[in-house]
Amino acid sequence: MVNQRFNKSYFDRYYGKRPVRSLHEVAHLATAVHELATWWSSPIRSVLEVGAGPGDWSNWYRTMQPNVRVTSVDVSEHACATYGHQQRDISSWSPSSPFDLVICMDVLQYLDDINATRALRNLTKATRTYLYFDALTTFDAKHTVDRDATDLDAHLRSGTWYRQRLSRSFKQAGAGLWVRKTSSVVLHELEHAR
Ligand SMILES: C[S@@+](CC[C@H](N)C(=O)[O-])C[C@H]1O[C@@H](n2cnc3c(N)ncnc32)[C@H](O)[C@@H]1O
Repeated sequence: MVNQRFNKSYFDRYYGKRPVRSLHEVAHLATAVHELATWWSSPIRSVLEVGAGPGDWSNWYRTMQPNVRVTSVDVSEHACATYGHQQRDISSWSPSSPFDLVICMDVLQYLDDINATRALRNLTKATRTYLYFDALTTFDAKHTVDRDATDLDAHLRSGTWYRQRLSRSFKQAGAGLWVRKTSSVVLHELEHAR
């Protein structure tokens, strides 16, 4: 499970002076997702952050929503020792019981097709209601990201590759948020993508 790539130099490079995103930006996103869940009458009481890195989401939850049960995991020994996560590889691990919200942001591009497929299955098992998911795609690498600030040495796949797999168990609410079809949340027709 030890992954040498995600060491101190990796985190200094991408989360040091010029981080790919700030804690402040993530705070807006976490607030929006948390409030949407309340709007849909299925509030978030437990959270799992997968491939947490610096742990911006789990830190926001621990600080701003202290009544929410928070677990954060990462494959990197350095990230676990520095930021306090459990060491888990999402391609081979899923929790024994599901969480209301699972967050997996910018992780699956580091896994090859076979392991990314396994990881998507484990993320699905881990999710009771909401999945916040993002991964660098071929399109993003070309068109949307700051190429100097982003690690492009990854397994780039199409958005369709991820959508097809996620759509088997989730409805796409948009902006990275997916709602598990087996959950109690009922989305209006125009609240989700087809
Ligand atoms: C680009 S960072 C993203 C960190 C954080 N999610 C964020 O959005 O800022 C990628 C993270 O994924 C973790 N990671 C890579 N492969 C993983 C795996 N198979 N299981 C769990 N974590 C993994 C790395 O250790 C690293 O912390």
